[in-house]
Amino acid sequence: MDQTYYITTPIYYVNDVPHIGHSYTTIAADVLARYFRADGRDVRFLTGTDEHGIKIVKAATERGISPRELADEVVVGFQGLWKDLNISNDDFIRTSQARHERRVQAIINRLIERDEIYLGQYEGWYDEGQEEFITESAAADNEFKSAVTGKPLVRYKEPTYYFRLSKWVDKLIEHVESNRGFIQPQARRNEVLSKLKMGVADLSISRLKEKLGGWGIEMPNDPAHSVYVWIDALSNYRTALGWPEIGDQHDGAGAKYWPADVHLIGKDILWFHTVYWPAILMALDEPVAKCVFAHGWWTSEGKKMSKTLGNFISRETIAEICSEYSVDVYRYFLLRAVTFGADGDFSHDALQGRYNSDLANGLGNLLNRTLNMIDRYFDGKLPASGEIGSDERIVQAAAADLRASATGAMESCCFGLYLDKITELIGATNRYIDITAPFKLAKDESQVERLGTVLYTCAEAVRIVLTYLWPLMPETMAAGLEQLNWKMGAEGSITEAAEWGRLTPGTQTRKPEPLFPRKS
Ligand code: MSP
Repeated sequence: MDQTYYITTPIYYVNDVPHIGHSYTTIAADVLARYFRADGRDVRFLTGTDEHGIKIVKAATERGISPRELADEVVVGFQGLWKDLNISNDDFIRTSQARHERRVQAIINRLIERDEIYLGQYEGWYDEGQEEFITESAAADNEFKSAVTGKPLVRYKEPTYYFRLSKWVDKLIEHVESNRGFIQPQARRNEVLSKLKMGVADLSISRLKEKLGGWGIEMPNDPAHSVYVWIDALSNYRTALGWPEIGDQHDGAGAKYWPADVHLIGKDILWFHTVYWPAILMALDEPVAKCVFAHGWWTSEGKKMSKTLGNFISRETIAEICSEYSVDVYRYFLLRAVTFGADGDFSHDALQGRYNSDLANGLGNLLNRTLNMIDRYFDGKLPASGEIGSDERIVQAAAADLRASATGAMESCCFGLYLDKITELIGATNRYIDITAPFKLAKDESQVERLGTVLYTCAEAVRIVLTYLWPLMPETMAAGLEQLNWKMGAEGSITEAAEWGRLTPGTQTRKPEPLFPRKS
């Protein structure tokens, strides 16, 4: 059976419009999904929208429309952005869909059957922006304001159903400690562990339905209550696969793809994904996801993004960037500019700098030089390689190193390492051209075989580079490969295609059309 790969993004709230931060997680997930699909795995890539909760209700009320109308409007923006950015998700879940709502109720029923839920009273603080219950001491530490949005916390007092979260703390600690890869990067793992060790109270998992204007998923045991939005939202990772099976149609995906290989998320929602979600799954006696990877946050032009500051990178701004450069350049920049896991800053200068150095001068130049020389010296027909020596071996070793590291780097979401190996191969090949000086060899007829070896080596190296950059920049890399008369995906998996020597001598290549014209 094919090896599966299930990857998810957070489902995005529909109270506000999509921006660079959302695009970051989704692009990263898309790159992983494309890589593993190209490598022959059976991939399921899920994204979607989180449509319930008080903040959606409030945003809709402010606009004088219903929450459903708001959700229906904003979801179009998210789906449109994913189309703009060439996102290859297999499914898009909306938490207001019946397929999800019925399964969330089934999950709650199972928890009730297992005596994991009891009725109590909540009195305390709530962060409406983050949809999060805040302990008295954490609230006081932050002057009763949200640690994320800075907005005042709200005092809640109401009956609520609790999930026996405290009961699962020891098991959670043990799970995190014995599975080093579960929470990534490692610094986040330590953060979660130390907070867990300070003790955790039971979790309120319902809100009074009247307070949400009736918008939400009804608690199956009590129509006066709605399911707490985070329990509703986290369940999407399984309900989208048709689990629990409740008699309606499903395609067996629930058993096939779970446990997820990776939940990609932003650092602000780590606790929900590494404590609440696995505890619920443990309480249901279900396996937990293999990895939760929390990435950092983007600022824009050195400052926190805000609409009033004018530095908010909305769908429209992303479209402007993409029309100035390209969708692929935007995708590349987000993953190249910062180490995955760390915070980053988006600036037009940094984008232009990266573009010119990595893409125009580095990769683009290498492809142009190679194709130009094949065109000029061999009428565009790829020459065969003669005997190779130590110069060729250096390039081949860089290609082999990239090939040996690629899957592991992607498995651990190390885009930085993956791209470093690609950059090393580009650098090694550019140096190789400088050392072997093919334009000098071309002047000496007795060196024609040597010239062939050099150009074959360059063509193979650049083909392997383009192949590995394809998951990040699918359209541009496919165009580059076409100039080499090579079709992505036609020659087996990405790992197979990246084997040295796959290009057939005699292949007719094209005159280069620059993939990345220099910008000044
Ligand atoms: N609805 C919840 C997630 C539920 S998942 C079961 C939610 N939605 S959100 O729309 O507010 O945020 C979605 C993601 O966007 C989060 O992972 C968050 O970290 C990320 N980002 C929001 N602003 C961001 C930046 N400025 N930079 C990078 N990511 C950012 O939370």
